[in-house]
Amino acid sequence: MRNLLDLSGKVAVVTGAAGGIGAQLSQALAGQGADVALLDLSVDELDTTRQQIESQGRRALPLRCDVACETEIAAAVASILEYFGRLDILVNNAGVASAGSVEELAEAEWDRVMDINVKSIFLMSKAVIPAMKERQQGRIINMASICGVNGSKLAALHAYNASKGAVVNLTRGMGATLAPYGITVNAIGPSLFPSVMTRGLYQDSFLEQYNTLCPMGRPGNPDELNGAALYFASDASSYTTGQTLYVDGGWTAI
Ligand SMILES: NC(=O)c1ccc[n+]([C@@H]2O[C@H](COP(=O)([O-])OP(=O)(O)OC[C@H]3O[C@@H](n4cnc5c(N)ncnc54)[C@H](O)[C@@H]3O)[C@@H](O)[C@H]2O)c1
Repeated sequence: MRNLLDLSGKVAVVTGAAGGIGAQLSQALAGQGADVALLDLSVDELDTTRQQIESQGRRALPLRCDVACETEIAAAVASILEYFGRLDILVNNAGVASAGSVEELAEAEWDRVMDINVKSIFLMSKAVIPAMKERQQGRIINMASICGVNGSKLAALHAYNASKGAVVNLTRGMGATLAPYGITVNAIGPSLFPSVMTRGLYQDSFLEQYNTLCPMGRPGNPDELNGAALYFASDASSYTTGQTLYVDGGWTAI
């Protein structure tokens, strides 16, 4: 039987690939045969992910790119197309968290969160869609969050909530209008996974509250996002677009 998750011969681009989830998903894509362009704010920080991809026998291209900056994105996408000659999968993973309520947040912080979490998806997608349209195929995967569909009593995350809510509905809009070009656009909505972003939350006081609220009673393990990413990146999801899959231990089910 055909392996629906097979990504042999495909080229994926993962933003924020130095971070916890970006590095994890880069390895998962390579594990199914994809070569991977790795984007982050520093090439040095991408070295571990690059080695992990290469140790799986796949090619990796680490690139410095601020995903909130259109000129840096244009240069990165040109380098990817020159190096690999194609581009099939975009994972818009880079993001920042920010605590604070509307009363507390400074305007500059609001703008920073919206630029990195939302504008980056607009700019990255805009840059790769022409290459995907040319081949009449493409997969765009956006990183949303349970914070895009839920508020939280545990902490005020108002800019982050707004940014991830925008990701969920941008995914729907792009999914609907890019479908005729063979391009699907879907999102993953994690709850709590270990990463640099969340390391401050892995303390007994917070984890106890999280585990009480989460039906599965625990945070996610790093590789528990692989299934959603591989589904959306591959032929397995050929008739699915505009969706957000919450990988959250049941958090958004209640
Ligand atoms: N970890 C979680 O529990 C969790 C839960 C829900 C959603 N998410 C989302 O998953 C994604 C990855 O988060 P993570 O937990 O791995 O965080 P992380 O902080 O470990 O990684 C984020 C990466 O994005 C990079 N980045 C930040 N700004 C950038 C920019 N302007 N240009 C390029 N790269 C940039 C960082 O350098 C970092 O390597 C984010 O979008 C986050 O909002 C994470």
